[in-house]
Amino acid sequence: MRAIQIVRIGLPATALRIQECQEPEAGPGRVRIRVRAFGVTFADLLARTGMDAESPRLPWVPGQEVAGIVEDDGEQGALFAPGTPVAALTLRGGYAEVAAARPEFVVPIPPGMDFAEAASVPAAGATAWLALCGLTSLRAGDRVLVHAAAGGVGLMAVQMALAAGCEVFGTVGSEPKAAFLRDLGVQHPMSHASIDVEAEVGRAARDSGMDLVLDSPRHDTLLADLRMLAPSGRLVVFGATAAATAVARGSGRSASLARARVDALDPWALPAEGKGILGVHLARTADARPALVRTALREIFSMVRSGRLRPHVDSRFDFADCAAAHDRLHGRESIGKVVVTFEGASATV
Ligand SMILES: NC(=O)c1ccc[n+]([C@@H]2O[C@H](COP(=O)([O-])OP(=O)(O)OC[C@H]3O[C@@H](n4cnc5c(N)ncnc54)[C@H](OP(=O)(O)O)[C@@H]3O)[C@@H](O)[C@H]2O)c1
Repeated sequence: MRAIQIVRIGLPATALRIQECQEPEAGPGRVRIRVRAFGVTFADLLARTGMDAESPRLPWVPGQEVAGIVEDDGEQGALFAPGTPVAALTLRGGYAEVAAARPEFVVPIPPGMDFAEAASVPAAGATAWLALCGLTSLRAGDRVLVHAAAGGVGLMAVQMALAAGCEVFGTVGSEPKAAFLRDLGVQHPMSHASIDVEAEVGRAARDSGMDLVLDSPRHDTLLADLRMLAPSGRLVVFGATAAATAVARGSGRSASLARARVDALDPWALPAEGKGILGVHLARTADARPALVRTALREIFSMVRSGRLRPHVDSRFDFADCAAAHDRLHGRESIGKVVVTFEGASATV
């Protein structure tokens, strides 16, 4: 089969290469899927730029999420009949014509979705669900601030918070993204390119703090995030997008700058103010608590089925153009998810 490997650390055009690789075998605990589409996540960019310390040795096949057709469930069809259209969290190995996933991380695609839409859900949806529901407990009426709110995880998170009856604040990097959020029903979309987010959040919330803040982009916003929290509020941290971008462009300066500012964090102030910080790591949770990630996947696809969650595919790239898909995600203009497709990805289930 053909797969895309990361063969060196660097820019997409030189780091990603299509190679002939061995197909994964099905067996107990491994469902083999003929891939029609896979999602591109920021974690793939981190791996490609050498920012993920847990990456395997080069070369290897990245890819956290796919949608396709079950070829073999490893259990003589007891779990999924051959031919069942499914989405799956693969965590690695999804950039391929054939991928394998643990059966608990495989979900039938709801009717009416195509494969590209289905591939856009597992990693972003599960991460957002863990951040809002699985590892914290969102309640109706909560004030929720989501940074990078028009991104893959961000757009899932704001939709889940809106569906739960929360007041949602979302920061984005441009006015078109803010307008997109407004159309979605986000009450307080704001472009950090043109306003002081902390001042604007304080004004819009009439100086009541946030019950939950989701921060993935920048470690140097963490202190402001903590200031914006209400007593008993939770800050959920799950990424370092800005640092990755700095490294990808050949300058480690912003990364070290971001880390230096986090050193100013005072953990002793947290109990005094009744605030908490929580880290979310999808792959680690999948290892340690697979039942929770299984629940996450079932919950988000149930929300999709009922129309409470609408996956938004920003752009679709052919398998041969995967490097362009990485460039698109790095370019900060994408809204929702960037997806790579094989033939048949647009077929509706
Ligand atoms: N811990 C986990 O298990 C886990 C799982 C999934 C994702 N993540 C993390 O969550 C974050 C979001 O992932 P995603 O796949 O959904 O990506 P994404 O949000 O679709 O794309 C990244 C977004 O980050 C924002 N951003 C802020 N500073 C940036 C910079 N200097 N360069 C580029 N983008 C910047 C941009 O939005 P604006 O321009 O609108 O600000 C951009 O659209 C990433 O940090 C990722 O590593 C973590």
